Amino acid sequence: MRVITFGTFDVFHVGHVNILERARSFGTELYVGVSSDQLNYSKKNRYPIYSEEDRRHIISALACVDYVFSEESLELKAEYIKKYEADILVMGDDWQGKFDYLSDLCQVKYLPRTPSVSTTEIIEVVRHSQPKQST
Ligand code: CTP
Repeated sequence: MRVITFGTFDVFHVGHVNILERARSFGTELYVGVSSDQLNYSKKNRYPIYSEEDRRHIISALACVDYVFSEESLELKAEYIKKYEADILVMGDDWQGKFDYLSDLCQVKYLPRTPSVSTTEIIEVVRHSQPKQST
């Protein structure tokens, strides 16, 4: 069974590894669509901290991941599911219900997010952290 999931995976953190490991546990292969820099810019008006090449490199280095590709548009999920012959789509429950329309193509599962961690929050914490005083 081939599982597929999508995300930006910028500033990689434990919530990312948790969802990827859980996604993989539903099948025998995990395919991951990593959103392109341009897609992020068009949705959030800013580029990710890590480039799309680096984000794909990090994801493809994980033992639970079998194949990584670039997600060029949020509207192409059906095409990617068909192209890669995925049996199960896994998404975090921040997307609850949003991909039910794909359930005629594959099984759709939403997994609970890992609490208290997100890329946005990490960026905020780092941005507001005070530089150490020199003595
Ligand atoms: N994810 C998760 N638990 C978290 C954070 C993310 O399960 N605490 C999941 C998301 O639901 C998604 C995948 O990881 O399926 C990639 O999420 P992404 O949006 O790249 O990460 P976030 O940390 O949510 O980034 P942001 O704060 O920019 O939205």
